[in-house]
This record gives sequence, C-alpha cells and structure tokens, in this order.
Amino acid sequence: MPSKNSQIDLQHIDQYRVLRAKYGPQPFRLHLGCGGKWIPGFVHIDLEAQPHVDIVGSVEHLTLFPDESVGFIYSSHTLEHFGRFVYEKVLGEWFRVLQHDGVLRLAVPDFAACANLYYEQGLEDGLSGLVGLVCGGQRNRLDYHKMIFDELSLTQTLLKIGFSKVRRWDWQQTEHKTVDDYSQAYLPHMDKKRGCLMSLNLEAVK
Ligand SMILES: C[S@@+](CC[C@H](N)C(=O)[O-])C[C@H]1O[C@@H](n2cnc3c(N)ncnc32)[C@H](O)[C@@H]1O
Repeated sequence: MPSKNSQIDLQHIDQYRVLRAKYGPQPFRLHLGCGGKWIPGFVHIDLEAQPHVDIVGSVEHLTLFPDESVGFIYSSHTLEHFGRFVYEKVLGEWFRVLQHDGVLRLAVPDFAACANLYYEQGLEDGLSGLVGLVCGGQRNRLDYHKMIFDELSLTQTLLKIGFSKVRRWDWQQTEHKTVDDYSQAYLPHMDKKRGCLMSLNLEAVK
C-alpha cells in the first residue's frame, strides 16, 4: 500500500514554494525520469541534472509531494529501471501523490513487440535495437533495465494498486507529440510510418 504523507515535509517547504511559484496553484503535472526531454508546464524529475530538471533525485520516493497533490504524471521508459520487486512500490508512490481522477501516463518497452519482432526477423539487424529495449543502453550505471512488461501484466499491476480505466494511449494525440522520447520508439529506428512501435503506452486513472 502507498504510504501516507498528507503534509509537506518541513525540509521540503522551500523547494515546494519554488515549484508553486514556477508552476502556479493548479495541481502539479510531473514528468518523471524525463532525461533530456522537456515538456512545458511539467515539473521535471530525474536522477541526472539537466537545465530543465527541477528536482534532481529518484522518482522512487516523491516525498516533496503530499498525498493527492498531483494532477497528472507522465513517465516514459523509466519504470523498467526498477527491479521486479520494486516497481510496484514505485507505482504505489505515484498513486499516492495523484489526486482522485488524476491520470498516470506510462510508456515502457513493449516486451511482446520485442518478442514478435524477434520471431519475425530474428537477428537480421544484429538485434541492437532489441538489446537496448530489453537490457537498456548500458551507457552508464543508470542505463540498465531490470523489468519487462507486456500489456496484460502491467494492466493487472495497475488495477491491483487501485488504478482504473487502463487503456493504451496514442502519442500522436498528446500535447507532447513533438517531444521525440522513447514512447515513440520504432524499429526500424525512427521509421514512424512503416516501423513497429516498440513502446507499450498505457495510461490509467486514479
Ligand atoms: C531511457 S531514459 C528515458 C528518458 C525519457 N523519458 C525518454 O523517454 O526519452 C531513462 C531516464 O530515467 C532516469 N532514471 C533512471 N532511474 C531513475 C530513478 N530512480 N529516478 C529518477 N530518474 C531515473 C535516467 O536518468 C534517464 O534519464
């Protein structure tokens, strides 16, 4: 179960005020594990510092945010960086901070798409794209994947945590469609017209 945190932690109060001043009084929208991608109006959180990252830290614990203080969470290709016994707790923490009717929009590597492509094309391109999707880019210590997902397993986990209305989302219908992040990962690389979408894009409502 998500832990309770109904008040702003005193040590975070200044940081919280800064975010309020920057993003206004409406419920926050969070971009978790944003990497180099910036979406206007979103609070950006990542382990790696970048000019647009508001909070440099792990998205595992969102202690800065009280219960139900967030209206929308977007996280693309970050959940798979948590292990099989950890990722549910992370989703529980994201559930905690979301307000009632708040939306969690997720993108993760689609293991079913990887398996299909493997059986259809085998090692045709040396599988470099598939290795990255399954194992991570492995360019630095953060760049390793620890979990795989398909639509059924992730849907069941989201429902178990308490989310409802789980459905696929279409990146072309979003306000961040011009942000070319991993939710738009295709193989062959960048072939968004004829390629295969390798990202499992699911959203759910609290
Ligand atoms: C594959 S990149 C995805 C970047 C971007 N969201 C996209 O889709 O293009 C994964 C990102 O997750 C971040 N990350 C990994 N583990 C994290 C954690 N525990 N807390 C915060 N960020 C994390 C990494 O620093 C990296 O920026």
